[in-house]
Amino acid sequence: MASRFQDVQQGPPIEVFQMNKMFTEDPDQNKINLSVGAYRDEQGKPWVLPVVRKMEKQMAADETLLHEYLPVLGLDQFTAAATSMLLGADNPAISAGRAFGVQTLSGTGGLRVGAEFLNKHLGYTSFYYSTPTWENHHLVFVNSGFTSPHSYRYWNPKTRAIDFDGFIEDLRSAPANSVILLHACAHNPTGIDPTHEQWEKIADVMEEGKLFPFFDSAYQGFASGDLDRDAWAVRYFVKRGFELVCAQSFAKNFGLYNERVGNLTIVLNDASLVAPVKSQLTWIVRGMYSNPPAHGARVVANVLSDKMLFDLWREHIRTMASRVISMRESLRAELIKLNTPGNWDHIVNQIGLFSYTGLTQKQSEYLVQQYHIYLLKSGRINVCGLNPSNVQYLARAINDAVSKFPAEDDPRAKL
Ligand code: LMR
Repeated sequence: MASRFQDVQQGPPIEVFQMNKMFTEDPDQNKINLSVGAYRDEQGKPWVLPVVRKMEKQMAADETLLHEYLPVLGLDQFTAAATSMLLGADNPAISAGRAFGVQTLSGTGGLRVGAEFLNKHLGYTSFYYSTPTWENHHLVFVNSGFTSPHSYRYWNPKTRAIDFDGFIEDLRSAPANSVILLHACAHNPTGIDPTHEQWEKIADVMEEGKLFPFFDSAYQGFASGDLDRDAWAVRYFVKRGFELVCAQSFAKNFGLYNERVGNLTIVLNDASLVAPVKSQLTWIVRGMYSNPPAHGARVVANVLSDKMLFDLWREHIRTMASRVISMRESLRAELIKLNTPGNWDHIVNQIGLFSYTGLTQKQSEYLVQQYHIYLLKSGRINVCGLNPSNVQYLARAINDAVSKFPAEDDPRAKL
């Protein structure tokens, strides 16, 4: 009998996870994993943050902790701590009771719950994301009911910097009530954030055009090593009086990738609307996954609400951020030492986990095939995949790739 499933077509692989798998399975001694955005220490190993380990041991020994269901919108202690980490504990929106959080399945879950809410309850259908952006943004919004996807210009491949005029022009042409997806800090994949003056201009144009800001904050603390500095843009929009939502991930800054700890912060301009909005969010979560998991949220909540643990965690963040910064410097220095064609200043000017190297697809593929160096075909590298013992190998490989395949050979160079 023919299967009911016979017409199901094979879907394409997810590039970032495919690269990660290819790396894991590659027996080569010199292989380097620069694909998935996850922190690696000086030895190239994943790092369980000591404060997380400490908290997990404490929790394992605590006989009073149960595995009962959490409320649909999550652990209150966690959502309150996460919201105040984003907005600042003294933010007037919090004291006025018009800002709150919903626990979500990491940042992606926050994007999904937020987008579905905006679509279902405010009737929004049009959204704008940067070119380029994290490859999952488009899919999450479309799956949430958004029917008009658009992109705004962001990266200028010629200058390897932000295309600010293009960005503003595209915002100006967006219809009212479009949702504008903005990276709160450490833009993925380019590592280039707008300056404060540029954010002010973005806010002006969005206010004039009645556009709705949806921030994605996956790297708070990772960009500069400073939680407050990395939240500047979101806090600025709140101060300007915008109503907004922000999906927060604790995957990177707590190293809790597989625990799916996230928060959707929602800021309204009227505290009396919090109850109805929360009630509708409850039904969205109920219909999607019913209620969130507790473990990671407890870890984060306990660390954020204990001064000593919080300070320890901030030290861990600084350790991670400064290691990334120093590897950027080493990579640039090695490329210059080898007289590698081109200018490599953008590597140190970009921030966060990623560098958008400017390597073409052909050059990137060559690094994978010839050198066992795994990166995305867009040329994005996870900088903390580098350490003092592999950075020279990468620089030599890049030098070879750009010498062998000058950028003009790449079809994208002609775009
Ligand atoms: C990345 O951009 O590498 C990470 O956010 C992992 C992912 O899910 O794509």
